[in-house]
Amino acid sequence: MLTKEEKEKLERLYQSLAKDERILRLKDIQMHRGSNCYIHSFKVAKVAVHRVMNHKGYNLENVILGAILHDYYLYDWRADHSKKKKHGRRHPLIAEANARRDFNISPEVSEIIKCHMWPLTPHLFPKSKEAKLINYVDDVVATREALTSRRFKKKHLECSLKFIERLFDE
Ligand SMILES: [Fe+2]
Ligand SMILES: [Fe+2]
Repeated sequence: MLTKEEKEKLERLYQSLAKDERILRLKDIQMHRGSNCYIHSFKVAKVAVHRVMNHKGYNLENVILGAILHDYYLYDWRADHSKKKKHGRRHPLIAEANARRDFNISPEVSEIIKCHMWPLTPHLFPKSKEAKLINYVDDVVATREALTSRRFKKKHLECSLKFIERLFDE
């Protein structure tokens, strides 16, 4: 179990990233239905933290950073025809290079970002517990988003915004 202090520290990190101007650019990048890159990434962070917060041996700061930066590729692959085809395989390395440029990320966070699309990138196998976790949770969140029907797009967006407001609900 996390202590009150540990939770507060993680919440502070999550909230500071939520307000960071560089991260706010993710709002302009469309993702699956009723979502954008910002919502998607914060959802991955929250779902991942809650999944393992009562397990030992996870670095939850790295989980949060890795999740929020895992799709930090900063281009709209839907709009750019030349990027469409190769996006799936290429974007983890682009996101990692951008994250390294803009944030002082550790090798552990680098690995989380680079390996999040495995097995699509067979040479980038997630080795750490945190990288395996984000690789899995990203799939779960992306699948849920992709399966949202058009009719519920607006409702889904409202629920998602509410969900990502805080890492730990009071
Ligand atoms: Fe991705
Ligand atoms: Fe993702």
